[in-house]
Amino acid sequence: MMRWVSLAAAAALIGAVAVLPAHAEEASMPRQAWSFAGPFGTFDRAAAQRGFQVYNEVCSACHSMKLAYYRDLSGIGLSEEQITAVAAGKTVGDIGDDGAPIERPALPSDHFKSPFANELAARAVNNGAAPPDLSLIVKAREGGADYLYALLTGYSAAPTNMKMGDGMNYNKYFAGNQIGMPAPLSEGRVTYGDGTPASVNQMAKDVVTFLAYISEPETEMRKALGVKIVLFFLLMSCVTYAVKRKVWADVDH
Ligand code: HEC
Repeated sequence: MMRWVSLAAAAALIGAVAVLPAHAEEASMPRQAWSFAGPFGTFDRAAAQRGFQVYNEVCSACHSMKLAYYRDLSGIGLSEEQITAVAAGKTVGDIGDDGAPIERPALPSDHFKSPFANELAARAVNNGAAPPDLSLIVKAREGGADYLYALLTGYSAAPTNMKMGDGMNYNKYFAGNQIGMPAPLSEGRVTYGDGTPASVNQMAKDVVTFLAYISEPETEMRKALGVKIVLFFLLMSCVTYAVKRKVWADVDH
């Protein structure tokens, strides 16, 4: 009886030690359950499409996504017609047949249109802080998708004892807690076509799912390939083992 009690106590102790650091981390930046996490994870298409709507209607006013093409939207389930329509809604600069600069509707093969001509123009209207390009932001920040979600939902009034800079906003998860970006999301900021209620948490989750996809559109292919390769090696191990048995079958041990 005593032995069982002490065994249980030891197990509980080991469990607590194993769990403790994870909890300490959670307090600073909560973990979210992402559809695309893990070796078999895939992007929740509906969430990613809603997330594109959030980027398109909210974030794209300030943030570029220069490395992404409109055609990349096929990976989250948009049809060719839908992509053509999205692109055609934007005007991009080009060079005409006579070599003079022209403006034309964007094509699926164009990069996403940037909101500002250059970084100085972006700083000028954003209180001196340049909105970073979002193409690779999920990979560029420690904490990735969890950090982005925390940032987008981490706005609140500044503590009374904190002196805030001019035009700066308090955010629990931004380094130094003062960020130049005003809270971009508020209840019902977008109206979702699929009827999903547009709460701040929902929009944050959706736009992060979209940005995670954009940062690595080939994720799903890579994972599928990984699974195939592992299966291949398993099969090869069986074959080589069978061959070994056959080759050595007549040799006396
Ligand atoms: C009104 C302009 C504006 C809008 C709209 C906007 N942002 Fe920003 N964002 C900024 C600025 C300015 C910064 C730089 C802030 C700084 O460095 O203090 C920034 C910074 C960021 C950062 C980087 C934070 C870091 O850790 O450095 C992320 C991520 C981000 N924005 C995501 C978004 C997303 C997602 C949306 C849409 C839901 C959005 N932003 C909408 C202006 C904007």
